[in-house]
Amino acid sequence: MATILLGAQWGDEGKGKVVDHLSAKADLVVRFQGGNNAGHSLWVGGKKTVLHLIPSGILHSRTRCLIGEGVVLDPQVLFHEISGLKQAGVFQDERERILVSERAHLILPVLKEVDLIRENSSRGTSGHIGTTGRGIGPAYEAKARRVGIRVIDLYSDDATLLGKLDRLHDAFAHHFDPDTLNEIRVRTWALIPGFRRSLEPLMVDSTALLKHAHDSGQEVLFEGAQGVMLDLDHGTYPYVTSSFTTAPSAGIGAAFPKILRSSRVIGVAKVYLTRVGSGDFPTEMRGDHDPDEVRIGEAIRKAGGEFGATTGRPRRIGWQDLVALRHAVEVGGIDEIALMKGDVLCGLDEMGGVFKVATAYEGADGTRSDRFPARAEILSKLKPVYENFPIWKHAHPDDPAFATLIARIEDFIGVPVRFVGFGPDREQILER
Ligand code: IMP
Repeated sequence: MATILLGAQWGDEGKGKVVDHLSAKADLVVRFQGGNNAGHSLWVGGKKTVLHLIPSGILHSRTRCLIGEGVVLDPQVLFHEISGLKQAGVFQDERERILVSERAHLILPVLKEVDLIRENSSRGTSGHIGTTGRGIGPAYEAKARRVGIRVIDLYSDDATLLGKLDRLHDAFAHHFDPDTLNEIRVRTWALIPGFRRSLEPLMVDSTALLKHAHDSGQEVLFEGAQGVMLDLDHGTYPYVTSSFTTAPSAGIGAAFPKILRSSRVIGVAKVYLTRVGSGDFPTEMRGDHDPDEVRIGEAIRKAGGEFGATTGRPRRIGWQDLVALRHAVEVGGIDEIALMKGDVLCGLDEMGGVFKVATAYEGADGTRSDRFPARAEILSKLKPVYENFPIWKHAHPDDPAFATLIARIEDFIGVPVRFVGFGPDREQILER
């Protein structure tokens, strides 16, 4: 049986906690897209561990974790996370727990440099994406330009690999002066022996692995990164990540799609909304429609610890948006929702006892729509049409106010809220 877990918003929905909960039963957890732009903060034995690449399922001792071919892999980040997990006593031998697809593409130094150069040079313009600066976009670009380096390519003979590295560096040469590019080439070549040594024992034919998991009836959990609203096709393009974050992508980024034929797709959504990086969203608390919103947003950011786990950037805060969530359910292929962090709003005086939920948008000409628009540049100009809900005492389905909110969400988006997260601890999640 396979389960696919996706972020149903703009990332940072609290997926790590749901993965941790579900992977207690999983034999294999698979990352199928993205790279170390993701970030999950986990507490292990009283010590905080932030994972960007290795699936959060690693904390359950019987679970193995696969980094699939749809992922772009920064080997330095992988080795750093492995050593942190070893120090925390999570495992002794990574070969028993971590597997890497031989077809996954590598994030090499030139790709990280290009990401940062582009971000810095576009600052203040509409072309600024606000990426995590980890080389994710350039790595997918290199893959699509057919100059990427895959894990398996490390094991070509030196001359062949050098030729491939030259093609990669040449493709991005226009960003650098010749001396800088040469320095990057030399620095990259110096990393190769370590990459070869450390990745070889982890490298697998992931199709064979997943076929075996399927044939032997294993529980497999596919862990999505980012969120559906950041999907390259279906998100708020161009303010999106460079991979595909919807359920069908799990069949592409992890190479045995048959395993997904009877899968269950869970979308993780926060009760309120957050977003980092550029790109508008209609229900952002910017104070355009209500001056108090800025203060409310700041209170939620503080109470919810809404700062990026990868970059530390303050997350932008917004009211719940069911138009966006229904879009995510439809394009993401989501069957059920895990609703997270409702507890953050309990007892927050700044809320004034009211929680707003958008169910339509109004354009400048007064026309209303309940469909999510394809043009990202109009999002900040739309006026959300809100329904008001009383704030709950407990973010629990037994609380009548929270139950009313859940019922409205289910009615609007057409799929059930199956999980509710009601606090930060591992146990504070229930399945309805
Ligand atoms: P990139 O994925 O680093 O190229 O960044 C592209 C956009 O996706 C930026 O707006 C990032 O802030 C956003 N993004 C990427 N990964 C995450 C994530 O894990 N959570 C939230 N936003 C993300």
